Amino acid sequence: MSNNDNSLVIEELAFAYPDGNQALYGVNLKIKRGERVALLGPNGAGKTTLILHLNGILSSGHGRVFVAGKLVDSSDKAALKQIRSKVGIVFQDPDDQLFMPTVGQDVAFGPYNMGLRDSELNKVVENSLALVGMLEYKDRPPHHLSFGQRRRVAVATVLAMKPEILVLDEPSSNLDPASRRELADILRSLDITMIMVTHDLPYANELCERALILSGGVIAADGKTSDLLKDSALLKKHRLELPVGFTL
Ligand SMILES: Nc1ncnc2c1ncn2[C@@H]1O[C@H](COP(=O)(O)OP(=O)(O)O)[C@@H](O)[C@H]1O
Ligand SMILES: [Mg+2]
Repeated sequence: MSNNDNSLVIEELAFAYPDGNQALYGVNLKIKRGERVALLGPNGAGKTTLILHLNGILSSGHGRVFVAGKLVDSSDKAALKQIRSKVGIVFQDPDDQLFMPTVGQDVAFGPYNMGLRDSELNKVVENSLALVGMLEYKDRPPHHLSFGQRRRVAVATVLAMKPEILVLDEPSSNLDPASRRELADILRSLDITMIMVTHDLPYANELCERALILSGGVIAADGKTSDLLKDSALLKKHRLELPVGFTL
């Protein structure tokens, strides 16, 4: 398979924080275009550190990351701006991502900065809001929405950049069961490569055919989500727990 069929290729990525704390020890990974992959692992495993390498927020001296075949090179500022628009990260707290007076303005912010104007900009905003079922809230202030609605708008702000990869950090956290279900339906309907960091193993199983376990800064398992979740010794070893009564 050529590199261009992959949304993401990571080769031998290692990273230590400036204080000497080594978070990643040689991660190798390929994710094909259109795959939905769950990134599982205990606290401190290196999940966030890995994600922050995808668009060059963090960069290391060791290893390489390619997004849609392009090297993420944090020394090349122009290239980095392009990469940042290709990797859309939805952070855990939507309020970190929504700061404009209206929902529509929040979704317009990124594409406006990329040079879009007028009807072209409006079309992108409306399409992105429609994808998450929030079009009718376009002129509302984000802080009037429920938490689940704000998370959906946060997803729309990222989709408006037409990313190659959608990265979600704990997408189901703090959602009531109905909002959790609605978001799952929306995510399933999107035709995009997705990486989902989650402790919600049933959600991972429902949405992602493939899962990775990151543990101690290395990929400890990579396979079919249901196979990984059936392996109780594997789960235990990496401090992962299925909810009581959950069966596969
Ligand atoms: N800013 C930082 N400075 C130093 N060490 C850090 C920093 N952020 C995270 N770490 C350490 O790096 C390791 C991986 O952390 P992180 O990527 O946040 O894991 P996860 O997201 O899987 O919980 C942990 O040992 C953590 O303590
Ligand atoms: Mg984290």
